[in-house]
Amino acid sequence: MGKVIRKAIFPVGGMGTRFLPATKAIPKEMLPIVDKPLIQYAVEEAQAAGIENFIFVTGRGKHAIEDHFDYSFELDSMLEERGRSDMLETIRSWMPKPGQISYIRQMQPLGLGHAVWCARDLIGDEPFAVLLADDLVQSRTPCLKQMVDVQADVGGSVVGVMDVPREHTSRYGILDIEKDADDLVSIRGLVEKPRPEDAPSTLSIIGRYILQPEVFEYLDRQEKGAGGEIQLTDAMAATLGKGPFHGLRFEGRRFDCGDKAGFLDASIAFALARDDLAAATREILKSYAGA
Ligand code: UTP
Repeated sequence: MGKVIRKAIFPVGGMGTRFLPATKAIPKEMLPIVDKPLIQYAVEEAQAAGIENFIFVTGRGKHAIEDHFDYSFELDSMLEERGRSDMLETIRSWMPKPGQISYIRQMQPLGLGHAVWCARDLIGDEPFAVLLADDLVQSRTPCLKQMVDVQADVGGSVVGVMDVPREHTSRYGILDIEKDADDLVSIRGLVEKPRPEDAPSTLSIIGRYILQPEVFEYLDRQEKGAGGEIQLTDAMAATLGKGPFHGLRFEGRRFDCGDKAGFLDASIAFALARDDLAAATREILKSYAGA
């Protein structure tokens, strides 16, 4: 049902204030979990879901991301000279092809909705994905691939969702649920950052979205929402009722890498999942037991 999802937006224009001073000169999406920047995890997840066009909506620190997704002549030739084909593989294998990446400057960090809106002309009239790289998901099947597969069945818009403790609802976009059928939830309403007592549920949206181009009609109005920002949640809420809109309780564990504790948690979880680091990481953790 519906069109194939070919394009993805990666909003990387936030200020990353919670990670200062690390984010003074580089965007937080370039911070590594073990040895890979957050943005690369997101791009690889999108590739695994069949995405062919990668649109970065950037702010400061654009060059670090552009350079990361580009050939590095000096590094490539040095590794070639030294016969390090294994390392060449680690810097080349995941690179999108020339022409598949575009960069748009957000100019002012007016909110996530504004960042997505900045990419409207590159999206045109087709459904698209949005991935927030600071939400990292560890799963058997990449999270966006799970969503794309479901969207191919149910059509319309699909957002990745997970249950959060009620006292945390004011950090997230929260669903007002129409029908809850195991993993797939149909949505009646969406509220950005409600107080726990006002939250219509505890099911929150994480940084994975498949949206229809109609969402730009609302974003065109540039209306400010919670926190004085142009909110993507408000624009999505405005499209409810115009087509199917589902939340998918994806399989996997999500880490909020925009938060220091979440970032450390992800670093440990991803290190434990690696053959070359699991044993050493366990030793380290043991040495801190009782700390
Ligand atoms: P956050 O709410 O985490 O804000 O944005 P932030 O500025 O990145 O980080 P802090 O809170 O100052 O530490 C959520 C996502 O939306 C993007 C961010 O890059 C991040 O992926 N974003 C946010 C934009 O691209 N533009 C904006 O104007 C706001």
